[in-house]
Amino acid sequence: MTGPAHDRIHLVIADDLNGVASHAADLFVRLGQSAAATSGRFAVALSGGSTPRALHALLGAPPSYDAVEWTTVQLFWGDDRCVPPDDPESNYRMARETLLDTLLARGAIGDEQIHRIRTELPPDEAAAAYERELRQSFVLAEGELPRFDLVFLGMGPDGHTLSLFPRTAALGVTDRLVTANYVPKLNAHRVTLTYPVANSAAVVAFLVAGADKAEVLARVLEGPRDAEEYPAQGVTLTGGDLYWLVDRAAAARLQRDVAD
Ligand code: 6PG
Repeated sequence: MTGPAHDRIHLVIADDLNGVASHAADLFVRLGQSAAATSGRFAVALSGGSTPRALHALLGAPPSYDAVEWTTVQLFWGDDRCVPPDDPESNYRMARETLLDTLLARGAIGDEQIHRIRTELPPDEAAAAYERELRQSFVLAEGELPRFDLVFLGMGPDGHTLSLFPRTAALGVTDRLVTANYVPKLNAHRVTLTYPVANSAAVVAFLVAGADKAEVLARVLEGPRDAEEYPAQGVTLTGGDLYWLVDRAAAARLQRDVAD
């Protein structure tokens, strides 16, 4: 694998999306139990898009649901679209529908454990407000980065991750935890964690499924490094574990089938 250097990179190839979701749920449970037993706090950044839906369904049901100490969980988002929280495009709304409403209805978590990006605000204000919430929740000193226990990421067919899209301004933002990002090809504003935050995580897990991701996955994992064109390559953990949880369809163009 000629991609970016990482301390520890794990490529797991599952049969299908449900297999990817199952590996991701197992990772959530394992890391959550470890965090509950050590720090008593499990800080997770959820991803947007459609891939996480299957994961969220598993986390909201036995056995995963019963294995998580939900009172220790603090839920964040890696990014969101600058739309109202009840908009069909909202990553927060997707998480509400597929997981949070279940957790809240059961009393497993409280609203204070849900740290959404306030995307109803103007983009820069939403980014600044989310940064303040991160600094407060992680009790950060000036210049300190939050260390998420787990960051889930997706990847688009263009190699974007979070809302770090090819050749957009957010790729170069390294002095902030969160930034607004205008995406010309979508003609849309987003709010996203920046690379320094993603790269300071203890564990990052990409969830990638579907034949439409095969070409870009091979390019990102086995091609030359070019994070400007393939922003997922900019996720280069400094002292963490990077997981690629992918299905066979997405892995079809990889030079070799390497399963953990
Ligand atoms: C978003 C996501 C984005 C997503 C990829 C993959 O807001 O859309 O954060 O980075 O993870 O676009 O999306 P799919 O899972 O729908 O393929």
